Amino acid sequence: MTLLSENQAGNTPVATGLVLSVGETTEVSPTVRHVRLTAPDGRVLPSFTPGSHIVVTCGTGPDGRPRRNSYSLTGPGFEPDHYGISVRLDEKGRGGSRWIHRLQVGDPVQVSTPRSAFAPVLAARHHVLVAGGIGVTPVLSHVRAAVQWGRSFEVHYTFRAGDGPHLEELRRLCGTRLHTCTDSNSFREHIGPVLLDQPIGTHLYVCGPAGLIDELTTRAHRAGWPGARVHYEHFGVGDLDPGTPFTAHLRRSGSEVEVDSGVSLLEALETHGTAVPNLCRQGVCGECRLPVVSGGIDHRDLYLTAAEKEAGDCLMPCVSRASGQRLELDL
Ligand code: FES
Repeated sequence: MTLLSENQAGNTPVATGLVLSVGETTEVSPTVRHVRLTAPDGRVLPSFTPGSHIVVTCGTGPDGRPRRNSYSLTGPGFEPDHYGISVRLDEKGRGGSRWIHRLQVGDPVQVSTPRSAFAPVLAARHHVLVAGGIGVTPVLSHVRAAVQWGRSFEVHYTFRAGDGPHLEELRRLCGTRLHTCTDSNSFREHIGPVLLDQPIGTHLYVCGPAGLIDELTTRAHRAGWPGARVHYEHFGVGDLDPGTPFTAHLRRSGSEVEVDSGVSLLEALETHGTAVPNLCRQGVCGECRLPVVSGGIDHRDLYLTAAEKEAGDCLMPCVSRASGQRLELDL
């Protein structure tokens, strides 16, 4: 296992990471491939909390920069002998899933150490886990830990008929605690009573497409769930409008950086020679947050809270832009 320093990891700083190798690949549904990553010397890997993800460098993008995607870890978290990720092939995506689906046993793969952003609340009286499609991956990790530690839980899993990744594994782990739906209308009917009939102290966890998360969080709010007991994890912001050009003024250095349409502020800063720590480059992880001195912001991330966005004093430059012609950054 090779440890990477920040400078070795690519042309932009990333968290210290590991170089692992592909130990095994398995098709866990018609469109989803599971990849088992192991240390080349067989060593135990760093432990992680359920719901953690790693950032995988999936080759390089068309601009020659490393292409990095976040993937949830599906396997056991304590002193693991491998990291397992499951990736749905997206032919129209940025290329990360195609790169993963082409991996062969023995190929080296550069990954970050695990990061926790969707951990179970250990003091919860009961855990209601909701997964949509490939959103099952962090839920599977929660379920393994809940079974191991005897925690109270139930799982509600909605997926396209015939394309439910890890379904058999969940059936084995959950038994009667697993409820499945293969069409959205029946899922909507099913989940209503679930949200209304839970003991005080229950926590809700949702991972899946943005529409599912929006619907579940709205319905939970209407059903009286306190926000602190509702947890969710997005996949990323998807394809974004290229936006209009603007100028970023860097207050401390006095530099002006032009940001073209179709180029992110993060990319423009990197081209200018200003390194900004980053991981997901999809508005999810929070790593690239930058302080804003003045100027309107077109927030497009899934990380900042509504109050933070309204305050207007920071932005995630991997996806967010100026809403006007100029933005002043505290850089
Ligand atoms: S790099 Fe993750 S939010 Fe920007």
